[in-house]
Amino acid sequence: CGIVGYIGSQQAPPIILDGLKRLEYRGYDSAGICTIFADCADIRRSEGKLANLVDLVGLIPIFGEIGIGHTRWATHGKPTEINAHPHQAGPIVLVHNGIIENYIPLKSSLREIGHTFKSETDTEVIAHLIEQRMKDGAGFEEAVRQTLLQLKGAYALCIVCESEPDTMIAAKHGSPLVVGIGDGEYFVASDIPAILAQTREMVFLEDREIAVFRRDGVAFSTITGEVLSKATRHIDWSPLMAEKGGFRHFMLKEIFEQPRAVQDTMAGRLLEEEGNVYLEDLGLTDAEMAGFSRICIVACGTSWHAGLVGKFLLEELCRISVEVDIASEFRYRNPVVSSGTLLLAISQSGETADTLAAVREAHGKGAKAIAICNVVDSSIAREADGVVYTHAGLEIGVASTKAFVTQLVAISLFALRFGRATGAISRERGIELTSSLLHLPAFIEEALQLDTAVESIARRYHNSSDFLYLGRGYSYPIALEGALKLKEISYIHAEGYPAGEMKHGPIALIDENMPVVMLVLRDRHYEKVVSNMEEVIARGGRVIALCSAGDSETAQKAEAVLELPSCAEIVAPIILSIPLQLLAYHVSVLKGNDVDQPRNLAKSVTVE
Ligand code: G6P
Repeated sequence: CGIVGYIGSQQAPPIILDGLKRLEYRGYDSAGICTIFADCADIRRSEGKLANLVDLVGLIPIFGEIGIGHTRWATHGKPTEINAHPHQAGPIVLVHNGIIENYIPLKSSLREIGHTFKSETDTEVIAHLIEQRMKDGAGFEEAVRQTLLQLKGAYALCIVCESEPDTMIAAKHGSPLVVGIGDGEYFVASDIPAILAQTREMVFLEDREIAVFRRDGVAFSTITGEVLSKATRHIDWSPLMAEKGGFRHFMLKEIFEQPRAVQDTMAGRLLEEEGNVYLEDLGLTDAEMAGFSRICIVACGTSWHAGLVGKFLLEELCRISVEVDIASEFRYRNPVVSSGTLLLAISQSGETADTLAAVREAHGKGAKAIAICNVVDSSIAREADGVVYTHAGLEIGVASTKAFVTQLVAISLFALRFGRATGAISRERGIELTSSLLHLPAFIEEALQLDTAVESIARRYHNSSDFLYLGRGYSYPIALEGALKLKEISYIHAEGYPAGEMKHGPIALIDENMPVVMLVLRDRHYEKVVSNMEEVIARGGRVIALCSAGDSETAQKAEAVLELPSCAEIVAPIILSIPLQLLAYHVSVLKGNDVDQPRNLAKSVTVE
């Protein structure tokens, strides 16, 4: 989503619409704008592209020197006009980025005291909370502070108020927010490019900080009221650099966004004390889940690799038999599917033609289908009986990174929910698993620190013409994904293989020119993978080992080593994925390829 706010002596709408336009690359499914004019909030919202909002404002103009705007990428609620921002409650109008984790209990307590809601969003709850505080006697600023203290989750907010028409408030926790300082005017944006054409003097809000803008100035403070003096930074980025957040490519930006994407995908879903998971759109009762005898996972490309990890997790945790199929195979095979089978369709875009056809095939045979998608209300999400959304945000790089990792999170959440429903996972085990998931963002941060080490490995090996990736258990699909990533963007031939199967063929390829990426974490397969590594070394292969921190034995044997934080099995596939994404990325850069738009590939394939 994108936020833009303005207060000053110019007309706000053109500045806001221009800012929103510059955020379009982040994705949108609806947009809206609000100004305060003659003490009244004037709101325009429209579904679809920003151009629709621009047309609407052309037809019914809007005026004012203070205003807020938003482009939405749906997370809670369908991409409809009703769910588009800004949201209003009484005198309060606001735009929001992020996810409010406790919006359901907040919403029901507001309902009890007579509030009615127009949209399905978590955002509208914030507006009602502020309205209620003002009804109880607080001023605008105080009401905002009190409300922020009640919110759990992530937000970047920009808020205006009809009864205090010369004030605008911005607040941040978890989601980015930047303030632009002009000459007697101020700008607020979720991202630098939105306001770079207006000013290059910026103040970056930190978590739990707010900015209160009045006509005569801005005051920064913490949400508890501690006054802050914040430094202004001069931003000299070009507009394109700004879109990529200062990163060289979207893919790298997206790799580094993964701690946040994972956090967002788990937000409000983990019920730690119960060792369970809440999945808002799952659409299956516990009894229905207990009635399935088999799960079929269908997907394409990277999403299929996520499905293979899903088989490992679901069989291990839920003791249910799982098959994983490539959608284009499944749909033409007359697969054995009946009402006792649950189909799990995994698709980032939710539009892949073969995966959609697989859902239809399953429905035709009387089976239920659940989707794991990143795009709200996409075709697959709509046709499935339930959906677990990943909250990765828009992914621009064609090679999938944060979408894949959040698919792995979504599958873990689903497995946990399923196992608790069928009784396969005890409350105690559930508590253990939720706690492992909670540690995940910090582990990803740690794995991202390997970036420089991965880059030097890339320098050493990027001239090789073939790579082999080997792993066992859940590391096997990650080996496949690592190889696919390298193929996709570096155009180097790479093969992923189950390490134990190497002796039945690929071993013939190994010589002193063959880099072999070995996934050798200290898990139940450790000793077996170490033996496979020795087989590679004995044939002159050049081993790049991804091992657990402190594994000096592996470190001594391998030619290059990357040590990863020791973590629980449920999150290990995710941690392993990070350095493999970085390796593919750096090799591609060194080869001078178009990283974000590799040749011959498309982000979403809507043909068979
Ligand atoms: C295309 C993309 C891949 C993606 C696959 C499946 O081939 O290039 O990155 O994994 O489609 O896409 P989906 O949107 O269904 O996950």
